[in-house]
Amino acid sequence: MVNNTHTRCDLMLFGALGDLAQRKLFPALYQLDQAGLLDADSRILAVARNPMDAPAVRDQLLGKLREHVKPHEFDESAATRFLERVDYYCLDFGDPAGYDALREWHDRARSQLIVYMATPPSLYGVIARNLKAASCCDEQTRVVVEKPIGHDLDTSKVINDELGEVYNENQLFRIDHYLGKETVQNLIALRFANNLFASQWNQDHISHVEITVAESVGIEGRWGYFDKAGQIRDMVQNHLLQLLCLIAMDPPADLSADSIRDEKVKVLKALRKITPELMETHVVRGQYTAGTIQGKPVPGYLEEEDANRSSRTETFVALKAEIENWRWSGVPFYIRTGKRLPEKLSQIIIHFKPAPHYIFDPDQKHLANNKLIIRLQPDEGMSLNILTKDQGLDKGMRLRQGPLELTFSETFEAERIPDAYERLLWEVMKGNQYLFVRRDEVEYAWRWVDQVIGNWQDAGNPPKRYAAGSWGPVASIAMITRDGRSWYEDA
Ligand code: BG6
Repeated sequence: MVNNTHTRCDLMLFGALGDLAQRKLFPALYQLDQAGLLDADSRILAVARNPMDAPAVRDQLLGKLREHVKPHEFDESAATRFLERVDYYCLDFGDPAGYDALREWHDRARSQLIVYMATPPSLYGVIARNLKAASCCDEQTRVVVEKPIGHDLDTSKVINDELGEVYNENQLFRIDHYLGKETVQNLIALRFANNLFASQWNQDHISHVEITVAESVGIEGRWGYFDKAGQIRDMVQNHLLQLLCLIAMDPPADLSADSIRDEKVKVLKALRKITPELMETHVVRGQYTAGTIQGKPVPGYLEEEDANRSSRTETFVALKAEIENWRWSGVPFYIRTGKRLPEKLSQIIIHFKPAPHYIFDPDQKHLANNKLIIRLQPDEGMSLNILTKDQGLDKGMRLRQGPLELTFSETFEAERIPDAYERLLWEVMKGNQYLFVRRDEVEYAWRWVDQVIGNWQDAGNPPKRYAAGSWGPVASIAMITRDGRSWYEDA
């Protein structure tokens, strides 16, 4: 069902001169405009604290578009035309009186109002209350908020309560940008459009699952924020658990937001609690030291700009997650994510169990597991490793592993893969919540992550060191080797 209906929107973008807005949101809106998906009368009100006028803001945004849109997709005159939609309003977000002007702007067209809060979450409540007090929103308003929704379960409840005082759940679009990635949505298609996999997708046929989200970048000037969060809050609580849910969930009855989110919540509820006794075998946390990435020396986490030299914050985490239900009993999900790993790579590997009775050369028995490799980035695609006979008279019945390969950029050559934010903004405009995170998902994810963090704090151990450019602490290799397995790149 393709719904490409244009909706005339008034987009009010708080934090419009911040990094997210300039690097991701405006380029995404520009692309939607280029694709003809923005209604001709849709308008954007950029709202920020900076005392500037609209022409100066448009100039600044033009420069940022030049910088962040791929050169072959950038057209100067199209960008200038796009920016004519943009007005600017300088606002102290805490000052209720300033919001009257926002209402006046919206009153001029009264199109579908979308409020995007690209601000620190501590401001969500105040913005919501002030918008309401100025009669600048109603039950039709859609509100987009970014992670982190809190620092733990309790603080996430405070943020969700503040938003909930003004908006209903069906008005709230909580972004996890991984859900906007084309390949991530493809997980839904792969699993629920292909009967081939449906019968295999359980503990009878799958031995284990690996999810890796590796980044080669370090902290990139965000030390202050990152050090309070660490990799488990920054990446696992949201992106990695969302991926795990999409792999592990039961088939939803339909594609509606709540059908999908109900199934994801069931997975989160079924995650086995990682008790203090399990920490040793189920969790590894690491922090990078100086090393080399793609031939270039890089500093350690504690030597980065603004670093507190005694920080114990983790920049890497590996976890063995278990899901306590019929489908997944006994199937570990090994998940890991880290900064300053050798390359930027996100992939999921489904390891199938070997055939029940093996009749080939015993020396080749290790080959006997089929693997489905889902590459989320870069080079989006999927590949199914299957066994065939090695060609040639002299090979007897020697086996060979080969891929059934689907590389999106080759197979769907003409198609441009849109950025996650393009997809997400487009879904907000259509009012479709299925790629956004519901309150209970956020809270169940925090509940699971909080107990791991609590155990770390109680144990008081420092993170294990790993050299930048390696795949994390050796303990992460030991964690999976203990179960007689190896990470995919080591296999
Ligand atoms: C963000 C994290 O949510 O995701 C960052 O805060 C991380 O630390 C980023 O770098 C990774 O996103 P992507 O799309 O580049 O994989």
